[in-house]
Amino acid sequence: MLTIALPKGRIAEQTLEKFEKVFNEKFVFEDRKLILKKAGFTFLNVRNQDVPTYVMHGAADLGVVGLDVLEEKEYDLIKLLDLKIGQCKVAIGLKAGDTIDWSKSEITVATKHTTIAKKFFESKAMAVNIVKLYGSIELAPLVGLSDCIVDIVETGETMKQNGLEVGDTIMQSSVFLISNKNSYYNKKSQILDLREQLAST
Ligand code: PRP
Repeated sequence: MLTIALPKGRIAEQTLEKFEKVFNEKFVFEDRKLILKKAGFTFLNVRNQDVPTYVMHGAADLGVVGLDVLEEKEYDLIKLLDLKIGQCKVAIGLKAGDTIDWSKSEITVATKHTTIAKKFFESKAMAVNIVKLYGSIELAPLVGLSDCIVDIVETGETMKQNGLEVGDTIMQSSVFLISNKNSYYNKKSQILDLREQLAST
């Protein structure tokens, strides 16, 4: 039996579609249920940012999560497979026409990705003041809360529609199958089998 933490929403649906193809059965969470048991797997429906936490503590053997979320958490987990879904990038966003003034003594950055943003600006020897937000990040530079943002860009439409421009790319991201280290060693053949099957969909 393998327990797999899935992030609520579109990524969970796309992952379950892969399981449907592999096992030729329906995999759907009923109504508001957070647990789905099927074909020897237990799926947990959790918040995106919580996936690495479930896997780190061994409450789930495996998880499905974006590389950006994984980078943020800095946990010691095994990346098993790029599922090739949820492709996006983490990038700087600036008010249209603005550029980053690298000569400033400090820059204020609004983001959900505080670790990634801090590392990026520090690698450029720029002192950074991070304003942690949980969503609608694009608003921050428009109302003077920050000089720029660090956020997910998929199509670029959200930034565009809010008068922002996409600046430097910090990292490319897509969704990975990850594993708890102990689970990987204790259930290696089961986990590698599943990895193979998902890789071939
Ligand atoms: C992400 C991100 C942007 C948007 C980018 O938000 O924070 O707002 O998607 O996509 P686009 O480049 O295709 O416009 P998400 O939908 O994950 O919601 P949240 O960040 O507000 O939780």
